Amino acid sequence: MKMVRTIKGTHDILPAQSGDWQDLETQIHKTANLHGYDEIRTPIIEDAALFNRGVGEETDIVSKEMYSWIDKDKSTISLRPELTAPVVRAYVQHNLGGQSLLQRLYYIGPSFRRERPQKGRQRQFHQFGVEAIGSDNPEQDAEVISIGWNILNNFGINELELNISSIGSDDCRTNYKQELINYLKPFIPQLSEVSQHRLKHNPLRILDTKNKDEIKIIESAPKIENFYTKEDETYFLTVQQYLDDLEIPYKINPLLVRGLDYYTQTTFEISSKKIGAQDALLGGGRYDGLIKSLGGKDVPAVGFAAGMERILIATDSRKRTDKQVACIYIVCTDLSALGPLQQIAKNLRELDIKVILETLRRSMKAQMREANKKNANYAIIVGEQEAIDKTVQLKNLNEGKQDTINQGELIAYFKSLTF
Ligand code: HAM
Repeated sequence: MKMVRTIKGTHDILPAQSGDWQDLETQIHKTANLHGYDEIRTPIIEDAALFNRGVGEETDIVSKEMYSWIDKDKSTISLRPELTAPVVRAYVQHNLGGQSLLQRLYYIGPSFRRERPQKGRQRQFHQFGVEAIGSDNPEQDAEVISIGWNILNNFGINELELNISSIGSDDCRTNYKQELINYLKPFIPQLSEVSQHRLKHNPLRILDTKNKDEIKIIESAPKIENFYTKEDETYFLTVQQYLDDLEIPYKINPLLVRGLDYYTQTTFEISSKKIGAQDALLGGGRYDGLIKSLGGKDVPAVGFAAGMERILIATDSRKRTDKQVACIYIVCTDLSALGPLQQIAKNLRELDIKVILETLRRSMKAQMREANKKNANYAIIVGEQEAIDKTVQLKNLNEGKQDTINQGELIAYFKSLTF
């Protein structure tokens, strides 16, 4: 029969890799908790309207990449392409703002975008992120950026590059957009079809072009910083000041344009030289209008999300800091002893010792080989004679020493040991 395989752009996380995923998740939980953030989990499927309104109908993410379908009750449902809009929906729906003026939230989970798959770009990928909802002060931006920076750093990714920008307030952007359109109009015949479309619907995205001819045109385009209001300028400078205080190096990149519509003021991305600047490990920014536009109060917010697959690619040469868990392999060739040995295994696990019990009924030699393969520290060996004597051969697999011990004394023996 023909084998069924994973869908294009999706991947299994196999046992050989899942340890790295668990390490990364541990680092995320730890760093987020140390900064006072609580975890939130939202559904993978949402009403499509959430992303149309939240992320923006004209964005590539929503218009080209989102998986949506009409359900049996005729409602349109989407697989989430990101988690900011869902987190804000949950914030509004459960009135989290009523519980606390500032909600510091973080999440880990899969997202879906129908992109052309390549290394570090999947159709199902995993994001973790934080969203701080409630503060409109620049120290909140700096805190959020520093959490992302710390997680990547603590996970051993070096050569990190933080790019920051400000796209200013609504007033600033409205004025700037108009100037940019005026500047670009004479170049329309030279612009790609995509950029011509963007000029009409989302002109700022043209700044992010990878097309060499367009990059030349953009070089002389008006710069957004000339359109900042006094408050925009002070705000952005204060964010920079706090990053200096936190000793986080950054580059100001006025051409940084994020692909989601909800941003205001500060935006940022972190990339690593290892994976290339074009594919950010992490991206985010301030989104002060989103909560209101999704039916909530006029509450400011800032956050980021990071791609976990990309982080793991950027760390693939890392030596795993595998905490050696104490492990015992129970080798048994006499079935009459299996019952008592299962009892012993249960008691050992209650001591937080990892115990693997043979269930394939292999030969003594094959079981011992398996114990070594599993990096067990000890083998508890029971053959015909030990089953009769109610003893075990206890072999220290690191030192090669072997002793006979009564089955009834095993638990006390391991209790007295520190691995
Ligand atoms: P984003 O820049 O679209 O932002 O995605 C964040 C990160 O997700 C990217 O930097 C990248 O590492 C990863 N990513 C995105 N698409 C893919 C893909 N197809 N395959 C693998 N990794 C991918 C957001 O999603 C915003 N919600 C971030 C945010 C949170 N802004 C404010 N709060």
